[in-house]
Amino acid sequence: MLILGLETSCDETGIALYDNKKDSLLAHSLFSQADQHAIYGGVVPELASRDHIRRIIPLVEEVTKNAKCSQRDIEGVAYTAGPGLFGSLLVGATFAKFFALGLNIPVLGINHMEGHLLAPMLEKDKPEFPFIALLVSGGHTLLVRVDGLGCYRILGESLDDAVGEAFDKVSRMLDLGYPGGPFVASLAEYGDPNRYRFPRPMLDRPGLDFSFSGLKTHVLGVIKKRRQEKPLDEKEKADIARGFEDAAIESLVVKCKRALKQEKIYTLVIGGGVGANRRLRSVLTLELENLGIKTFYPSPKFCTDNGAMIAFVGAHRISAGERDQLGSTPHAKWSLEDLKSLPSEQ
Ligand SMILES: Nc1ncnc2c1ncn2[C@@H]1O[C@H](COP(=O)(O)OP(=O)(O)OP(=O)(O)O)[C@@H](O)[C@H]1O
Ligand SMILES: [Mg+2]
Repeated sequence: MLILGLETSCDETGIALYDNKKDSLLAHSLFSQADQHAIYGGVVPELASRDHIRRIIPLVEEVTKNAKCSQRDIEGVAYTAGPGLFGSLLVGATFAKFFALGLNIPVLGINHMEGHLLAPMLEKDKPEFPFIALLVSGGHTLLVRVDGLGCYRILGESLDDAVGEAFDKVSRMLDLGYPGGPFVASLAEYGDPNRYRFPRPMLDRPGLDFSFSGLKTHVLGVIKKRRQEKPLDEKEKADIARGFEDAAIESLVVKCKRALKQEKIYTLVIGGGVGANRRLRSVLTLELENLGIKTFYPSPKFCTDNGAMIAFVGAHRISAGERDQLGSTPHAKWSLEDLKSLPSEQ
């Protein structure tokens, strides 16, 4: 089926066309509002929803044109129905329903985290079930056991800040840009790994949960102390960024290894914006290769929010007969464990 995917859960409008019969992403397009929110240091929900309204129609037109198809060729519409900012979700949901109604085609709300989780399946080299997924984004840090499409069991999660949120906050403390992850990561490239050894949260405890708030507070303490001595120069900032990145990555890597061992699984899949982090990718690949574990990542453009992952999940679920209930509304919160599982041949 040729499915139009719409992603509007936060500050990116992502639109894509995916055909599951051909296993092919025909076209995708993204507009990021990051510049509009940068001056506030974070997403302003009202501005985000208003901008989705402005972008959605031109992007749908652009994607259908790039895919060299007509809107009448579209056989179903998938949109992000949660979790996310309610106003932003409502824009996507409203557009999707009216678009589908106009063409008399099915429409389905998709879980945004399921999109991140299955994004590596957009690549040529696809993971096979079962696998462990590490979902690391601006709002989530999750370790999930995946036994099939829709068969998800959460093994661990962050008890406080998400790891992407910690990157964003450290970026703000160092007066870098927004969103912070890429800025902290590129500055860390020049940092001395031996200058700061920040605490590795929760590694001394059993279990698979994460915590990043203590690490963030520790980094803030160091920054304040150094600033009392003299203004931070670029070298000092780079050393702090490197110390933070190393601590955050080690926490993620140790918990991934623990989850794989506990579940006796040999495949790890990474999803979400922090999955674009080069050091995380190289440390994970190196350490897990030695244990005979294969690691799968989406290409960096499909790590952060995008319409392709929503179109992909939508194509599988709509083909299996799933439809929105009349009058369904988006969910600001929506756990992966509440999703319906699909038969394995789907
Ligand atoms: N190279 C990188 N290194 C570290 N973090 C990164 C990198 N690139 C992006 N990020 C972080 O990824 C996050 C954005 O990812 P994503 O778009 O998946 O999150 P979100 O959609 O805001 O949250 P969620 O998916 O949980 O609702 C931001 O916190 C950003 O700082
Ligand atoms: Mg996201």
